[in-house]
Amino acid sequence: MKTLVATEKPFAKTAVDGIRKITEEAGFELHLLEKYTDVSDFYKAVADVDALIVRSDKVTAAVIDAAKNLKIVVRAGAGYDNLDLAACTARGIVAMNTPGQNSNAVAELAAGMMVYMARNTFRPGTGSELKGKKLGIHAYGNVGRLVAAIGKGFGMDVYAFDPFVKAEDIAKDGVKALSTADELYGACHYVSLHIPATEKTKKSIGYDLLSKMPEGACLVNTARKEVIYEDELLRVMEERTDLKYVSDIAPDNHAVLQEKFGARYFSTPKKMGAETAEANINAGLAAATQIVNFFKTGDRRFQVN
Ligand code: 3PG
Repeated sequence: MKTLVATEKPFAKTAVDGIRKITEEAGFELHLLEKYTDVSDFYKAVADVDALIVRSDKVTAAVIDAAKNLKIVVRAGAGYDNLDLAACTARGIVAMNTPGQNSNAVAELAAGMMVYMARNTFRPGTGSELKGKKLGIHAYGNVGRLVAAIGKGFGMDVYAFDPFVKAEDIAKDGVKALSTADELYGACHYVSLHIPATEKTKKSIGYDLLSKMPEGACLVNTARKEVIYEDELLRVMEERTDLKYVSDIAPDNHAVLQEKFGARYFSTPKKMGAETAEANINAGLAAATQIVNFFKTGDRRFQVN
């Protein structure tokens, strides 16, 4: 049984060592394709593998087509918008993610980004404090609930909107559940985004929601750039000279935002929410274990297709 780890953005060495140990102890062969720059190298590397582990690497229909023996692909991470699920299903390939494994790393980055923006991206001058401000969690999943807990630690007043989580479950964490996104954006000084990128959510955060935010508000995006309607973000930030935007992955209009908005805008150059040794180890080892369990016992927990 051959397993390939194909990571354009590689895991920490300790994570790769752990993946090797798990797969080799199960009697599988491990192959590595790291930091590839040409997708044709990916096509070649998947040609004869049975299992595939990726991060944000795009597993397109062409990759699936090149992987004639593939039976399972695991996205070591939460968001699986990089997997062509229809192509996997058409070939009977099981697709999984590793929910929750890298959430703490992402939540800590979201918190760090709030501090960074509150302090004028560390430029000289008077900033503001998070204590006493309203924090809105847009989607109360694994990352959202950790950001909520950190926000409470800062002394923030925490709200959440998530139509898929019961209000009473949100309330148990001392977080106020709101029933619409409009209410969340209308109330909160900081909104931290944790929605997945789907056909429904892409470009769903635009003028209507952002223009409702209170004076001096900041949108924190550690989710996906695709959920933002970038033209409308630009328009609202031009009209509302108090609004701020911070993103973990450069938007398509990064250069324009950077030039126009100075300390009101910041983006990491490359997505780094899950870039901690701990997150790499948690997600990488979970992916390897899920593959071994799938082949040994038929375990399909975490299947997403
Ligand atoms: C995720 O969806 O798990 C995060 O966005 C992490 O993505 P990465 O593995 O590309 O860092």
